[in-house]
This record gives sequence, C-alpha cells and structure tokens, in this order.
Amino acid sequence: MSLEFIPYGRQVVDDDDIAAVVETLRSPWLTTGPMVEAFEADFAAYVGASHAVAVSNGTAALHLAMLAADVGPGDEVIAPAITFVASANAARYAGADVKFADVDPESFLIDVDSVRSLITPRTKAIVPVDYGGMPCDYSALQALADEYGLVIVEDACHAPGAEYQRRPVGSLSTMTAFSFHPVKHLTTGEGGMITTESEELATRLRILRSHGITSDFRQREAAGTWELDQVDLGYNYRIADINCALGRSQLSKQPDWVIARREIADRYTEAFRDIEGLAVQSEPEGRRSAWHLYPVRITGADAASIRREVYARMRAESIGVNVHYRPVYLNTYYRQLGYSEGLCPVAEDVYAGLLSLPMWPGLDESSQERVIASLRSALAELRQV
Ligand SMILES: Cc1ncc(COP(=O)(O)O)c(C=O)c1O
Repeated sequence: MSLEFIPYGRQVVDDDDIAAVVETLRSPWLTTGPMVEAFEADFAAYVGASHAVAVSNGTAALHLAMLAADVGPGDEVIAPAITFVASANAARYAGADVKFADVDPESFLIDVDSVRSLITPRTKAIVPVDYGGMPCDYSALQALADEYGLVIVEDACHAPGAEYQRRPVGSLSTMTAFSFHPVKHLTTGEGGMITTESEELATRLRILRSHGITSDFRQREAAGTWELDQVDLGYNYRIADINCALGRSQLSKQPDWVIARREIADRYTEAFRDIEGLAVQSEPEGRRSAWHLYPVRITGADAASIRREVYARMRAESIGVNVHYRPVYLNTYYRQLGYSEGLCPVAEDVYAGLLSLPMWPGLDESSQERVIASLRSALAELRQV
C-alpha cells in the first residue's frame, strides 16, 4: 500500500473562499476596485497597522519598500544570510549592494551583533527576516537603526499572526512586507502587502505600485476626469480584486490557522525535546512565532551527510520535507558578484543541518505522528552507524 504524500505546506481553500471569488467575478470590478481597499483595511486591522498597501506579490512588496525608503545605487542594505533570495534581491533591484549578516545558531534569525559589525556610512536599510514565522529582536534592531539613521524594512512574508512583546508583526517596523503565495499563511494565489504607520510612505507606495501615477481609474471616474499625472517611475505591481476577494475570505480564518500551527509546533517540540543531535528553532522570550515553517537543525560534525540521508529517507516515505534555505550568497548570481564560502560561518553551519518538517493548518494528528516517527527512526538508525 502506498502512503499518502504529506506536503511540507499547502493552502486551505474552502467553498466560501470560492464563493467570494465568484461573487467578484460577477461584479463590475475585476481589478483595482472595492475588494483591494477592503482587503487592505481588513489586513491593516489584523496586524494593528495604520496603512496597508496591497501589491502583486511579496517580492514586489519588498522592492517598493526599498524604493520608498529611498534605497538606491551606492547604498548598502543588510539582510540575513538565511532567507529566500527575494529578501536580498529587492535591494539589488533598487541598485544597492547587499551585506549579508550572520544568524543566531538557535533562533536562526539575523544576529544583531553581526548587523552592527556591517554598518558603514553607506548603509541605508536593514531587512530583518522573520524566518519561519519567528520575529527578530526588534528592540535591539530598532535601537541600532535609530543610532545610525537606518530604515527597517521587515520581511514578514513568513509571519502574519506573529507577535513581538505582545505587539503584532506588521506594526513593528517602518515598513513590513508580506506574501500571499499559496504556501504561505493565507493566499491570494499571488499577492503581497506592505504595512506602515506613515501616511506619506503609504501614499508613495500606492503611486509606485501603479506606474508612478497619482490616481487610479476608479478615482478618475468618480471625479469625472480623464486627466492623470505620472510623477515617478513606478511599476505595474497591482493586485486584482479577484485575488483580494480570496484574500479577505482567507484572512477571516487566519487567527484560527495560527492557533492550529502553534498546536502542531508544540507537538513537534515536545516530541523532539530529548533527541540528541537535533535542535528545534528556539522561541526567545517575549516572541510568538506564527510557525510558517517548522525548521529543525541536525547538529554535529556529520550534520550535512545525515541531513541528506534523512531527507532522502523521509521523502521515500512520502513525507514532503524541504530545506529553507541555502545561504543566499552561495547562489550563482551572488557568487558572480564576488561573495563566497566562509562569509557567514554560523549560517553555513546551520544550513548544513536544516530541514523543514510539514507544517500547515490542515496537517492532521496522524500525519504528524508519521512525520515524528519517521524522523526519529531515521536519526536513530543513521547515528548508530
Ligand atoms: C522570506 C521571503 N521573502 C520574500 C518572499 C517573496 O514572496 P513572493 O513569492 O510572494 O514574491 C518569500 C516567498 O517565497 C519569502 O519566503
């Protein structure tokens, strides 16, 4: 009997999500209509932010945040070594250089001391990444940003629903970027959002997401004018009403999904507590992860070979483990820019043993038991050899 495949993450789409999309398809507005605004308002309320600007994906959110922060050629942006490439690429789109900060060996998050050591007169922004859904140390990062006059563009693509000192992620940084890709917490198919407390930044972001034009078609219709003005070089990073109808419906379930993810995380953490040579991501005091991922770290000198074998065995048992992420600078594009091995030793060490276990709200208890048993037995057998 072949075992049912357990993905590491996937979307949950119900009939009411589908109905919401169909309703919008029957409405006069397919894009840049009332659903975009409504989704922005709902999302801003969810994360406790004053403004939310919806865009076509999380990468566009990061790119526009870089431009709104006035990051440009000659500037440096500090990003963690362990993240998805988009966190660093956004700075490159804006023409800036990326400095990769090392990570903490237990939380796998950007190391604030490493950030401090990389600051130069050219540094413009820091892009802390709430890896796996775990918020970074925002008190320490904000203190650094204040000391050196830097902008924090938080990459919270993994972290809607997370909390730092009882404050929701989305309300902590100058700008915060989210993604609504299907593997993330809530989905719009493709989509993203930037939240901010600054009305000025929100206005700039709205202009930049639509070609640098100050009004949208609906506003011009309401004002009875055809006249428009392009004041900046923007992009078409708009998101459609169809996507936002899905996003609103998904968002209504998000609080329960975060609770479900926390229950799954608690069960994993309990199950792996006593396994030697295996570390789970630490949840530092005052932080609550939204658990987008459940990363474990195989430790020891043989971590890389054991991880490779554990990955193969679990995959052979139809368990969709994955690895997030190889240090960004070890990708060919960044190597060609001159980065190489040894730049962030902790990140390289952590990466050697990283493995993401299945984590999504629809993961039932028996599937989770299969994951736990499979990882335990693979490690026990491999470590005996
Ligand atoms: C940490 C991080 N940042 C940025 C992104 C980019 O988001 P998107 O795929 O919506 O462009 C992702 C998504 O894959 C991500 O994981």
